[in-house]
Amino acid sequence: MKGCGKLELGRRQFLRNGLGAVGGAAAAAVPVPAAAGGRSGYPAQVLANLRDLAVNVPRDIHYPDTGSPGVVVKLGAAVPGGVGPDGDIVAYSTLCPHKGYPLAYAASDKTLNCPGHFSRFDAEKEGQQVWGHATQNLAMFRLALRPNGDIAAVGVDELIYGRIGNVLES
Ligand code: FES
Repeated sequence: MKGCGKLELGRRQFLRNGLGAVGGAAAAAVPVPAAAGGRSGYPAQVLANLRDLAVNVPRDIHYPDTGSPGVVVKLGAAVPGGVGPDGDIVAYSTLCPHKGYPLAYAASDKTLNCPGHFSRFDAEKEGQQVWGHATQNLAMFRLALRPNGDIAAVGVDELIYGRIGNVLES
């Protein structure tokens, strides 16, 4: 639906800005810069290198810390939010946004699937929920490609399950 897409864009932008743009302040870039009160945005963190990735084979990672598992995967065709020479590398949390069950990547249809209550999320559409009990899309780790081929996570769209905001205590 056209209207929902606009709403989703607005919500993602709001979260990307770390809730800090409220009140007319200038929009923050990803990652969110340090803010008053000892809180900061998610750090940049290398997840893999281009040479580590094969098409449609997920690689387990953690971001922004060991309590937050995820996958980075080269999908084989350019997608929204994809990085790399082919615009096809994406990364997601593997904690289901419903109740935190561990998601599994299905290479057959490029979705992340929950064994708990069967929610499904589209890896080709920025983690859009396509079925199930969850009430939000999957947290997507925003990526940046470095000159040496390293793929770094630089931020998060949507909330990682169990967390109350896209900022960390520093
Ligand atoms: S925990 Fe994933 S659908 Fe309920």
